[in-house]
Amino acid sequence: MSEEWIEVGRLDDIPRLGSRVVKSAEGEIALFRNSNDEVFALRNRCPHKGGPLSEGIVAGKRVTCPLHNWIIELENGVAAPPDEGCTPAYPVKVERDSIFLMLSPASAC
Ligand code: FES
Repeated sequence: MSEEWIEVGRLDDIPRLGSRVVKSAEGEIALFRNSNDEVFALRNRCPHKGGPLSEGIVAGKRVTCPLHNWIIELENGVAAPPDEGCTPAYPVKVERDSIFLMLSPASAC
């Protein structure tokens, strides 16, 4: 695990209300951009049955899994009730339109 920020692209590489997948040694990480141009990073695996969250629908600070419609909080990877579970969320920041990611998960899923 790295405690360093790594540059993973530009804000414009992610469509608004869309996502982009970054491959890491720990698996795929999905970067999401919402309508406020906030960026979030989650492991690209739904806590339900591993669906690709990067293909889900982004609304506010949540993404809906494309497989069975679980709703996952983008800030911490936690499934919204009544569903239970979580997927790791990673620290991410945007500076001068560049996106930086830290590979040590902020949440312990
Ligand atoms: S795999 Fe995501 S809701 Fe089932």
